[in-house]
Amino acid sequence: MRLLDKVVVITGAGSGVGRACALRFAQEGARIVVADVKDDWAAETVRLIEAAGGSATAVHCDVTVEAEVEAAVQAAVDTYGRLDVMFNNAGITGMVAGPVFEETTLEGWQTLTTVNFGGVFLGCKHAIRQFKAQGGGGTIVNTGSIAGMVGFGSVVYGATKGAVNQITKGLAVECAPHDIRVNAICPGTMPLTNFIMVDPANPFSKPPDDYLDMAAGLQPNGRYVTAEDCAEAALFLASDESRNITGVLLPVDGGYVAR
Ligand SMILES: NC(=O)c1ccc[n+]([C@@H]2O[C@H](COP(=O)([O-])OP(=O)(O)OC[C@H]3O[C@@H](n4cnc5c(N)ncnc54)[C@H](O)[C@@H]3O)[C@@H](O)[C@H]2O)c1
Repeated sequence: MRLLDKVVVITGAGSGVGRACALRFAQEGARIVVADVKDDWAAETVRLIEAAGGSATAVHCDVTVEAEVEAAVQAAVDTYGRLDVMFNNAGITGMVAGPVFEETTLEGWQTLTTVNFGGVFLGCKHAIRQFKAQGGGGTIVNTGSIAGMVGFGSVVYGATKGAVNQITKGLAVECAPHDIRVNAICPGTMPLTNFIMVDPANPFSKPPDDYLDMAAGLQPNGRYVTAEDCAEAALFLASDESRNITGVLLPVDGGYVAR
């Protein structure tokens, strides 16, 4: 019960890292607002949590729309009375902007920036407002990426994640006097989420073995990263166990950025 009675909003909780964190946090006693742009995926996360005996509610939330991010925070207050943890996790692949930098369109750049950085900006903004209004501090966890720490190959995507990593550190300093902690997990390659769907017609389906082998081979330890790996790291950063840790970018990457 490492998050007993904590109220947590998780964006992008309909799939992948967000869903794994929602399930894991609920197991530890948290009450979860499952925020996602895909309503049916969010509803399924709530169903899985409730089937396991946990407590959760789904809200429609496009993280690029300020009113919807604000409403997700308000849903935590209206449903469970307060907000303890804001987990800004929603993000999209750099493939939307194309694989080669100089062929990136302005529209692709804008989409990536608005979702990956803008969504974190809005989530932090409205969480901090709520934390200050209710008093007693609070915790923010962001999902960055190793692509925001080193050159990875998807340049615009990496730049949006570099911005997420930097807002994490900047806010950690600015908010420390208010007992608001701000940390990030920085995952390596996770081929089992819906991030880069090998078969877009079949979300949540397992990619072929050769693709999984390729993904595993990117990490020095020869293992691909899973959403469940990220959930364990995020659980620590969300819980009071990390009460004196803020401004940290925690790689969950099998040693990728240590090379
Ligand atoms: N999969 C990887 O290899 C990898 C590596 C490093 C970092 N990440 C990051 O991890 C995070 C989670 O990705 P994932 O791998 O679980 O992918 P995923 O596609 O399985 O999950 C992302 C979720 O975010 C939701 N989402 C997308 N756009 C949204 C929006 N505008 N508003 C609200 N929700 C939105 C999707 O509906 C989905 O449920 C992202 O921030 C991603 O950038 C992924």
